[in-house]
Amino acid sequence: MQDPNRRAFLSAAASAVACALLPRTARASDSRIDVLTDEPIGTVAPELYGHFAEHLGGVVYDGIWVGEGSRVDNVGGIRRALVDHLRRLPASVMRWPGGCFADSYDWRDGVGPRERRPRRTNFWVDSMDKVPEGPGTYDPNAFGTNEFVRFCRLAGMQPYLAANLRSLPARDFYQWVEYCNAPPGSTTLAELRAAGGDREAFRVRFWGVGNESWGCGGNLTPEEYATEYRRFTAWVPRYGVELALIGAGPNGGDVSWTRRFLARLTEKGEGQLGGLWGWALHHYSWNVSRGRTSDWREGKGDALEFTPDEWYELLKEADRMDSLLAQHWQVMGEFDRRRRVKLVVDEWGAWHRPGSEAHPTHLFGQMPTLRDALVSGLTLDTFNRHADKVAMANVAQLVNCLHSLFLAHQDRFVLTPNFHVFEMYAPHAGGRAVRTVVSAPTLGYERAEGRGSFWGLAGSASLKGRTVTLTVVNPHLGEARETEIAVRGAAVASVRAVVLTAADRRAHNSFAEPHAVSPQGQEVPAPSGGLLTFRFAPASVTRLSLELARAA
Ligand code: AHR
Repeated sequence: MQDPNRRAFLSAAASAVACALLPRTARASDSRIDVLTDEPIGTVAPELYGHFAEHLGGVVYDGIWVGEGSRVDNVGGIRRALVDHLRRLPASVMRWPGGCFADSYDWRDGVGPRERRPRRTNFWVDSMDKVPEGPGTYDPNAFGTNEFVRFCRLAGMQPYLAANLRSLPARDFYQWVEYCNAPPGSTTLAELRAAGGDREAFRVRFWGVGNESWGCGGNLTPEEYATEYRRFTAWVPRYGVELALIGAGPNGGDVSWTRRFLARLTEKGEGQLGGLWGWALHHYSWNVSRGRTSDWREGKGDALEFTPDEWYELLKEADRMDSLLAQHWQVMGEFDRRRRVKLVVDEWGAWHRPGSEAHPTHLFGQMPTLRDALVSGLTLDTFNRHADKVAMANVAQLVNCLHSLFLAHQDRFVLTPNFHVFEMYAPHAGGRAVRTVVSAPTLGYERAEGRGSFWGLAGSASLKGRTVTLTVVNPHLGEARETEIAVRGAAVASVRAVVLTAADRRAHNSFAEPHAVSPQGQEVPAPSGGLLTFRFAPASVTRLSLELARAA
């Protein structure tokens, strides 16, 4: 169906590059960005650019693990193209083995000789009843702890293991820590690790204590979970590693989960907070019904076929991240006056209705479009802007699933628009996030009852030496935003731009057409009189690298 915004969008996108080169006087700015380099927020932890891989559908088997004898190019059974491309992203973290799967997983099933490992019913078996039986249904356990840690090393990521709190006792948790971290030759479990090919300790730092304990992770009350959390963490051997223990936090805006958990945890004193490094929030953007329903199935829309109004609604859903972080942070402060505990968003992304998966066995697989790339951009900007509160974030999920960076099936492999956004944003990692003030006209769209509105431009900035990295999302499907950009207290000597957009809002990268959505470098004239103007193309994610005349 033709929609009114589309024609305007196409012509605006086509003229975006040409317009960026026009002299300033020929254009009237309607927007402004001030980068306040003297107002630091905090360091952008590389862990904000983290990943998540669950034993779910085609994530592990097909996506990551192809097996040593496979005709797919691999390194010890691990898909080579995947690790090669992960190396282009910030050295961050990889969460595994779930998700909901984690609370059914016995780590002992995935160690020892591969041919003797048991086959087990996967947590997601009942969701897989319409697809051909495979490793996503009955897990062969070929990919276990040693394979996962090797994958992390190849990919340049730190492992983040999620422990089973629903169906295994605390003993299995601390023995998994022992298996991973005990010094070579020290214990029977350290020897078992060595027999699996890894004599040296893995020194795993990040440990999740359960997952979604309010739901699939035990259906507990926050008080029950707090008691379990205390019990699970009361004794965990360190082996010289500064363990970062992460609690299963709230679903979206459920602040009562946060408040009631912390109230019960600290009943035994504020010192209990020393055993909680991170508090894990989950937020998926799924409801594009524009106020018609809050039903989990009904509210979802198609990954590829969506109206302009659904485009804006999904972005608005994703933008809730900003207020969720602020709300939970405020409640955490009621208990944690010294601010020892940070937020961890260990599941985030867009979740569309099934139907666009690259292969039927890829449960929850969906085809990421340009719209999802904007979700990635605005979410990573949100994390950067809250760099003082968020210590880690993990996009769900790595490959062949929700909001993926990669799609892979047998020997086919493609980078999604989400991957490109992660690569564009890589220079932020390790930088100093600084406050950025954006003013731009808000946009309007139709909701079930009345009009919805959304910001016209948003982004984040960080500083490394003399380089400011400024990333910006323009959500408008039809209008470019002519923007004056000022860096307070510094002169910009030169600018480089990289832009991700496409002429069609549904554009995506498939096995047949892998480069439909790819970032493009863009010429930017040297700023005149200290003032820089840039035209942000409609429906785009942009990275500007601003070289300052001197360090700010
Ligand atoms: O990412 C898919 C699932 O979503 C995870 O297993 C679970 O934690 C969440 O509900």
